[in-house]
Amino acid sequence: MCGIVGYIGKTAVREVILKGLERLEYRGYDSAGIAVKDDDKISLVKKKGRIEELSVEDLPESTIGIGHTRWATHGKPSDKNAHPFLDCSGDISIVHNGIIDNFVSIKERLRDKGHEFNSDTDSEVIAHLIEENYRGDLVEALRSSVKELEGSYAIVAIHSEKNEIAAARNQSPLVVGVGDGENLLASDVPALLDHTQDVKYLQDGDIVRLTSGSIDIWDRTGGEVERITKTVEWSIEDAEKGGYEHYMLKEIHEQPQAIHDSILGRLKGFEDLDLKRYRIDSIRLIACGTSFHAGLVGKYIIEEISSIPCMVEMASEYRYSSRLSEYPFTILLSQSGETADTLAAAKEASLRGCKTLGITNVLDSSLTREVDEVIYTQAGPEIGVAATKTFTTQIVVLYLLAMELGLMKKTLDVDKADNYRNELRRLPRLVERILDRSDQIKELSSELASAKDIFFIGRNINYPVAMEGALKLKEIAYIHAAGYPAGELKHGPFALLTEETPVIAICIKDKTYQKMLGNIGEIAARDSPIYGVGIEDKEIQKLSDHNIYIPEVMPLFSPVVVNVALQLFSYYTAYELGREIDKPRNLAKSVTVE
Ligand code: AGP
Repeated sequence: MCGIVGYIGKTAVREVILKGLERLEYRGYDSAGIAVKDDDKISLVKKKGRIEELSVEDLPESTIGIGHTRWATHGKPSDKNAHPFLDCSGDISIVHNGIIDNFVSIKERLRDKGHEFNSDTDSEVIAHLIEENYRGDLVEALRSSVKELEGSYAIVAIHSEKNEIAAARNQSPLVVGVGDGENLLASDVPALLDHTQDVKYLQDGDIVRLTSGSIDIWDRTGGEVERITKTVEWSIEDAEKGGYEHYMLKEIHEQPQAIHDSILGRLKGFEDLDLKRYRIDSIRLIACGTSFHAGLVGKYIIEEISSIPCMVEMASEYRYSSRLSEYPFTILLSQSGETADTLAAAKEASLRGCKTLGITNVLDSSLTREVDEVIYTQAGPEIGVAATKTFTTQIVVLYLLAMELGLMKKTLDVDKADNYRNELRRLPRLVERILDRSDQIKELSSELASAKDIFFIGRNINYPVAMEGALKLKEIAYIHAAGYPAGELKHGPFALLTEETPVIAICIKDKTYQKMLGNIGEIAARDSPIYGVGIEDKEIQKLSDHNIYIPEVMPLFSPVVVNVALQLFSYYTAYELGREIDKPRNLAKSVTVE
């Protein structure tokens, strides 16, 4: 999704913006651009393609500028559709994230007034609107302009005659970096960390004016407000690759720590979360993509541990479902907290009268403002587009939550809760043991790389884990894969099984074990190569062509361990194929359009 960087201060701005945009590359983009203000003039470079293709040497030396990486929504990826945009006079330049729903009518109106447009984007109208409203005060012009906009935006603007940056936020993330003799703006914290760890998270409706020595913020009523400065603990090293070839591999290896951090201080319950205030007779989990799969795993966890009936829905479908006369406690899962579909579902759930809980990894993300309660997953920054440690920590949080609910409703007895706590404490070590098997998984993955189709199968709580395994492989290796409940394959997909269709079978010694062995046997009879992932066991060994053994773990907790093995399968298969693992084609880290 698009990335924004704005800088005003003491350092050559070209390099600052370039570096900041690089730190936002994980969000995905198809074009990039930079505009700088120098000697009452705006100079600009922008281009379809990668940041390093921008000819920044054509820009003058300056200390005020804005930059953007664009992920196309209106208008194809192209030079003309890349940001920043200029107004007619060339004095005003803007970058924008989000979508302006009423841009067509604004464009027509401005065209009638003589404005000429050079792009197919919704964003360009903002520069022209500010021009129309400009009476010598950039902030005022921006304030009047956003009143006319419908939709979502983070807008950052500069003017050739002003030593300041103006910005506005509505439903699109924007963070101020508080520096010393310099101040910054960005869509996300990594872009600020080279300069400062002190940040102010802007809120919807906020307008801000930055100079090199001041930050003034007004809320939607026009009143000046103070937004608290928070010191982010993430160092630049946290946000960088830490010696691994890819962020994804680094993040897979960070899982023992991430699990540990997510459990820390919470085994006896969540501080600041008083669930007794809510009536929780049924639960609806809502999310997209990998978070949706965490929700599906969560259904098994919550029903098993707390006996509260649970249903799971994709955020993009929820809004259109029938409004029933029941108000399930609604949990929204989103690692980024910025996924448009999930935010829309959160709003809809509240409108329907449901009490809502958000589970997210990003401090002060938009989701946190839409829900009644929030739990943070504590995974640390996740840069790779493919979600790994955030999935694992979402599941860990769901165990903790289910235990809290079970104890609260007295559907979970204290001894059982102690057993669960012990198993949670073991998880970091169990995951480490899977990571120790990386070389074996790497070797097997080189065989998978030539496949055109791969099935992932599992039963019960490991059925959604199979779905997540397939999603990860599609996402980063570009191999078609499907996650299926093992018992379903014979109802159709069997027609696809040949010696060229590998099947990755999750086989855990739980209540489905015997049936699962039967399913694997049926597949073996169709000559598909079988990669068994499960506890060391002679039966599975007999049926499988290859095996990845997972350490002994309580079946209810097996998804965390199994999934790490599947993440490594996807990573090494994509690696073998030379894919762009951290930035898969056509994908964005947070999908801020519905
Ligand atoms: C996961 O690898 C994907 N990048 C994607 O499915 C993601 O999980 C989905 O877009 C939801 O994102 P969120 O958790 O930030 O809401």
